[in-house]
Amino acid sequence: MLTLGIETSCDETSCAVLRGKDELLSNIVSSSLFRHKPFGGVVPEIASRHSLEQIDVVLQEALETAKIKLEDIDLIAVTHGPGLIGSLFVGVSFAKALAYQMKKPLVGVNHLEAHLAANFIGREEPEQYIGLLVSGGHTSLSFHEKGEMKLMGETIDDAAGEAFDKVAKLLGLGYPGGPIIEKTAKEGNLKAYKFTAPKQDGRFDFSFSGVKTAVRLLVEKQQSAERKEQSVQINDLRYALCAMPFAADICASFQDTAVRWLTDKSIDAAEFKGVQDIVVGGGVSANNYLREKLEKEASAKGIRVWFPARSLTIDNAGMIARRGWELYEKGIRSPLTLTAVPNLVLAHH
Ligand code: KG4
Ligand code: ZN
Repeated sequence: MLTLGIETSCDETSCAVLRGKDELLSNIVSSSLFRHKPFGGVVPEIASRHSLEQIDVVLQEALETAKIKLEDIDLIAVTHGPGLIGSLFVGVSFAKALAYQMKKPLVGVNHLEAHLAANFIGREEPEQYIGLLVSGGHTSLSFHEKGEMKLMGETIDDAAGEAFDKVAKLLGLGYPGGPIIEKTAKEGNLKAYKFTAPKQDGRFDFSFSGVKTAVRLLVEKQQSAERKEQSVQINDLRYALCAMPFAADICASFQDTAVRWLTDKSIDAAEFKGVQDIVVGGGVSANNYLREKLEKEASAKGIRVWFPARSLTIDNAGMIARRGWELYEKGIRSPLTLTAVPNLVLAHH
C-alpha cells in the first residue's frame, strides 16, 4: 500500500510517499523560509504563493525519489488544518484534484495529530501515553489510550515555538527563533535571569506570554543603558545585542525556563495518568536541550520519552502520510467536499 502525503499548512510545501505503515520512500520539503526572513516572520500571502508554485515540482521529486509512478499511489492524505487558510487551500485543492482524477481514496489529516504520529514510523505505538505537542502555533498535553485521545491542557496564550520566535525577534536574532536561541544559549549562563512561573487555572495548561514580556522589559532596560553609555542608534544596538553576553544569557535563561515548564508538566501529566510514555511532537521537539532535560528527568521516574526522527520534527508530509494511513486503516475516508479548516483543534475522538 502506497500513501501520498501532502502538507502545505504554513511555510513548508511537502510531499511524501509512505509504503505500508513504516517505510518512508521519500519526504521532500520545499521551504519558503528565505522569502519570509526579511519580514521577521511568516507572511501568509508569500507562503501560499510559494506552495502554489512548488507543489507540482515537489510531488514529481517525491515520486522520483520513491521510484514510483503517480498511478501506483493507493491513498492520498492531506493536511486540512490547522494552519494558514491560503496555504491549506493549495494542498487540499491539489489533493482533491488528484483523488478525483485518479479515483483514489482521500483522507484529511489534522496537522497536530500528525506531529505526534511522526513518532510511530518504524516504532510500535504504545497503548497509553501522554502526548506533548510543541509547535510554532500550538502547545498541548493530551492523554492517548488505544487510539483515543483526550486533551488535558494547552497554552492559554503563546505557543512554545512562538515564544522562541518572539524572544529571538526581541533580541534582533532573526527568524525562526528556535534554532537560533538554541545555538546562542550555548554561550550563555542559564542562571543569569530568573523568570517567574505564570499562574494558570488548569494544572496542565501553559502560558508563555509573561516570559516574553519579561524579556522585552530586560531588552529595553539594556538598550537604554547602552544608549546612555555609547549613544548608538537603535538599529545598530540590535546587532550589538546579538554579539553581547547579554543576548546569550537571555537565550540560555529563557530556554531553560521554557524547557523546565514543558518538562515538569509533562512528567506531572504522566504521573497523574499513571502512564510510562511521553510522546513529543512539533518543531520545538528538535530542541536538544529539551530532548536531554526531559529524557533525563523522566527516566529518573521510570518514564520513557519519545522524540521523532530529526527529519520528522519540523513540518513535513511524511508525518501526514503516516497519520492518513492510520485513519484509513480505521475506515475513515474524506469526501471531495473536504475543505481547509484553519482553526482545527486536537480533539476528542
Ligand atoms: O511544527 P513546526 O515546524 O510548525 C508549526 O506547526 O507551527 O514548528 C515551528 C516552530 C517554530 O516556532 C520554531 O522556532 C520552532 O518550531 N523550532 C524550535 C527549534 N526548531 C524549530 N524551537 C526550539 N528549538 C529548536 N531547535
Ligand atoms: Zn507543525
